[in-house]
Amino acid sequence: MKVVSFVGARPQFVKEALIGRVVRESHAWNHVLVHSGQHYDFNMSDVFFKELGIPDSDYHLGIGSGSHATMTASSLVAIEEVLIKENPDALLVYGDTNTTLAGALAAAKLKIPVIHVEAGIRQHPKSMPEEINRVLTDHASSVLCCCSEVAVSNLMRENVTEGVFVTGDVMYDLFKIMAKNFSPDDTQKKFQIPDDFFLCTMHRDFNVDDPEKLRGILMGLIETMEIHGMPVVFPIHPRTRARVTEFGYSQLLDKFITMEPIGYNDLMSLILASKFVVTDSGGLQKEAFYAGKRAVVVMPDTGWREIVQSGWNILCNPSQKSIVEAVAQALVSHSYPKNLYGFGNAAELVVEHVLNTLS
Ligand code: UD1
Repeated sequence: MKVVSFVGARPQFVKEALIGRVVRESHAWNHVLVHSGQHYDFNMSDVFFKELGIPDSDYHLGIGSGSHATMTASSLVAIEEVLIKENPDALLVYGDTNTTLAGALAAAKLKIPVIHVEAGIRQHPKSMPEEINRVLTDHASSVLCCCSEVAVSNLMRENVTEGVFVTGDVMYDLFKIMAKNFSPDDTQKKFQIPDDFFLCTMHRDFNVDDPEKLRGILMGLIETMEIHGMPVVFPIHPRTRARVTEFGYSQLLDKFITMEPIGYNDLMSLILASKFVVTDSGGLQKEAFYAGKRAVVVMPDTGWREIVQSGWNILCNPSQKSIVEAVAQALVSHSYPKNLYGFGNAAELVVEHVLNTLS
């Protein structure tokens, strides 16, 4: 059996690292790796391939940045060519990026079964680009691997019931496997970070492309630093860096410890060393949970509802007042909810379900 695995953005590299490894080690199928090129800076792409031991992709489509239509359309055309040439038995896609949707559409139209890892996640508002990508991808998929029963229920509500499996979260598996490489002390030294700090990442278009919301978030973090007497460490996504400059907010960053986006081991090490996390990243809110740290999630809703419903993570508006209030809440101790996303064997289960369903 031959499977084309299609990745393009940071969260997909993290998931591919483990699935690809399990497939190669178990000789489950011939795994052809295709990189769309949606993320292309060293710190956004190559660093993950290097650190996580992902082999060079077999194809790099060089899509780059652009509008949603431009990125999706160019990926669609380019991956279709690869699929026609490779004629695989299935296409594997992860998560909810423009790369995910383009791959799923191209394969479904060629009648190639689509495997969707991290299926069934639903989040308001429906207009979010990632929500559109995940709903359409699920409806074009034949094997849907879900992180939890909540995702299965979401799919059932949309009458998607065939080929649906609960596998747990591949990112949890990876976190456990890579834990031996996390070195909070060394990472703090490397970036000259004091003992006590909060960690922040922010990159969603609905937060950072709006000048008022971005200002509210930065001002909330500044007030948090003043109240609690510790700095915010802020690796800055290129989208956010560009908006900060465009809106004239560069001076607001003087109070932060800022850096370029960082690789997986450094980021996980910083989560472990931090007091807690403020983020709008889908992946990081789960990784904070796996690291035993609470996260203030600056989103109107999250696909990772189990962590919020358990009271561990806290949703928050992109305003100064909400951030300050949510941070105060996150500093109160809370019992840790266990095993929300499986038992660390998600990648093996994904491979097993794919083989049972498609071979
Ligand atoms: C994308 C995903 C999002 C995921 C995120 C992880 C979509 C719709 N969104 O959002 O789900 O959480 O990746 O980071 O696919 N840029 C660079 N260098 C790069 C990559 C991007 O400078 O290597 C800049 C470009 O100006 C680009 C902008 O960042 O326009 C945004 O990148 P894009 O891939 O469009 O969206 P993300 O915000 O990264």
